[in-house]
Amino acid sequence: MVFIPSKARPAYHRALLNRLLGRREDAAELCKTALQTADYSVAHLRAHQMLAELEFPGEDYFRVLARIHEHLKPATYVEIGIFQGESFEIVRPETLAVGVDPSPRIRKQLSANQRVFAETSDNFFENRDVRSELGGKPIDLAFIDGLHLFEFALRDFINIEKLCSPDSVILIHDVYPIDDTSAARERASWFWSGDIWRLILTLKKYRPDLSVNVIAARPTGLAIIQNLNPESRVLEERQNEITDEFLATDISVLDGRKAEMLNRFPNEWASISRLIDTRGRA
Ligand SMILES: C[S@@+](CC[C@H](N)C(=O)[O-])C[C@H]1O[C@@H](n2cnc3c(N)ncnc32)[C@H](O)[C@@H]1O
Repeated sequence: MVFIPSKARPAYHRALLNRLLGRREDAAELCKTALQTADYSVAHLRAHQMLAELEFPGEDYFRVLARIHEHLKPATYVEIGIFQGESFEIVRPETLAVGVDPSPRIRKQLSANQRVFAETSDNFFENRDVRSELGGKPIDLAFIDGLHLFEFALRDFINIEKLCSPDSVILIHDVYPIDDTSAARERASWFWSGDIWRLILTLKKYRPDLSVNVIAARPTGLAIIQNLNPESRVLEERQNEITDEFLATDISVLDGRKAEMLNRFPNEWASISRLIDTRGRA
């Protein structure tokens, strides 16, 4: 094997030093310099991770997800994209949970209330009776974290919303890109969020009836979508048009106004719990 030195290394080491000295803005700029050329080196991955920590200093998405499960105590849960089961392990034992992933690599044994389907989410929604898998109940809480491409996440959202109730919550991972390399549609580095940010712009434009908030949680944001309407067919009926429109939208539209365009919400549990707590509302 030929060792190819990473171009990211010198800038990443300077970023490390600057962060140690408390110069956060300089550290972030040096991370961006390190990330200018995509590669699969350790220095490149670490530069992405540091940039995410500098952008989102609070709790990571696993912790926020765990808090949401504890707070909502959902009767039913659907997760798209399981990988090693790290987020699926967070689910409470009482929750009836269904996971979907074409190649899951689960490390822990599933509990009696948990089931994982080894197939794509498109296949799952097309061929399974999801409601009967959930004991005839609607989906209370869902987490979309499958393929990091906009049109796939859009289809997951459409399929999931139909199975929800107006009080359900849909979470979407990887919606707040931290740089262009990690947001590319074609993966070019370990750290990859893809173009799921396009789904947030879609929901804001075509479904103004939804409540859309993106928690500033590491590594790349966690969207909380509420005020769902399982009867709505807007996204489904205009799916091709929406896909064409947003695939033609360059990431530079976020320049200088990313937080506003992606409805960034502070990663503070007191505010998040108020946001998701629909109990007692008129
Ligand atoms: C980022 S990982 C999920 C991580 C997991 N949710 C966690 O937080 O621990 C993304 C997963 O999506 C899965 N995936 C890829 N294409 C998919 C598809 N079409 N439908 C469902 N899952 C898919 C991949 O196999 C991969 O395991």
